[in-house]
Amino acid sequence: MTDVIEQTEAKGGGNPNKLVPYAVLAELTHRCPLQCPYCSNPVELERVKGEIATKDWIRVMDEAVDMGVLHIHFSGGEPTVRQDLEELVAHASKIGLYSNLITSAVLLSKERIQKLADAGLDHVQISFQDSTPELSDFVSGYKNGLEKKKQAARWVREVDLPLTVNAVMHRQNLHHLEDMIQMAVDLDAERIEVAQVQYYAWALRNRAAFLPTREQLDEAVRIVEEARERLKGVLAFDFVVPDYYAQRPKSCMGGWGRQFINITPSGKVLPCHAAESIEDLDFDTVGNKSLGWIWENSEAFNKFRGTDWMPEPCQSCDRKEIDWGGCRCQAFALVGNAAATDPACALSPDRHVLDEPLQEAMTEAPEFVYRRYGN
Ligand code: SF4
Ligand code: FES
Repeated sequence: MTDVIEQTEAKGGGNPNKLVPYAVLAELTHRCPLQCPYCSNPVELERVKGEIATKDWIRVMDEAVDMGVLHIHFSGGEPTVRQDLEELVAHASKIGLYSNLITSAVLLSKERIQKLADAGLDHVQISFQDSTPELSDFVSGYKNGLEKKKQAARWVREVDLPLTVNAVMHRQNLHHLEDMIQMAVDLDAERIEVAQVQYYAWALRNRAAFLPTREQLDEAVRIVEEARERLKGVLAFDFVVPDYYAQRPKSCMGGWGRQFINITPSGKVLPCHAAESIEDLDFDTVGNKSLGWIWENSEAFNKFRGTDWMPEPCQSCDRKEIDWGGCRCQAFALVGNAAATDPACALSPDRHVLDEPLQEAMTEAPEFVYRRYGN
């Protein structure tokens, strides 16, 4: 994302100062040809018959623009399985939304990329599981995906669309980080996201297979810092250190209900892509309410918005409007309470729950369980 609009500060709960979201993540489908074991989609996937129609997405985009949203990310699952993708991109372009396609790229043909570019697509982000065909196939559970992804990336650049390489790194592939960075340079990407697996939903059950060791992480930081300096003006870096090893949590989603809206394939509106993993939250859908109403009034958005909901030590902490108490989904996943301080914070009384996984990271990685759409 290149533009960030000024946000008014939210004090307390609710949305009294009219925060404006700047991006919508449109999960068009949960269908996906890959089987990544660290999938961040919910454990219960939406079936195709539950997906909302083209006209619904078009109405939702119109409502988003009325609210002041600037960006839309077309995501999934694999969004290119939707045959109406060009129509959705064309509408986003017509109403002035900057559109980004987040894709595994294995289904993209040269003709499809040309059509999407002609429809007005602004940016493409391709996920890579590794820089070698063997590990790429093994992690994604998909044969010969790497070459397809590289070919699609070249076609993206041929039609002059900017490209981001999303490199998902973990203990099984961090030794290839330098090669992943070089691959992004060779593909003429403008940005690389060195992304760490986040452990919610399906990924949580495979945590022991993917959580890196401290040594791997220190080496990754060294590699990224060196490459960031060497590749200034060639490749931009986004690098998020896994917070299991941090002293303070990340500002997840830039704060709950402050910047982002996530819409699921069936039209549920979430403050975060993993919010359905929090079992006691209810979500409104675009079939029942307008996007603007949901952003302002829905219980799910207001529950952890601002600072009123925070327990100690967050409530009296000088970082509470910096990291917003960390990640609600992580608090729920690890301590069973979404209103707890993120246990990734060293000040949290629950910090000890990270001891066991960090110990597991020192042992041999166990086998993982693939994510299959049919699961
Ligand atoms: Fe952030 Fe809460 Fe930790 Fe303070 S106590 S750093 S606000 S998570
Ligand atoms: Fe949901 Fe962090 S992933 S709030």
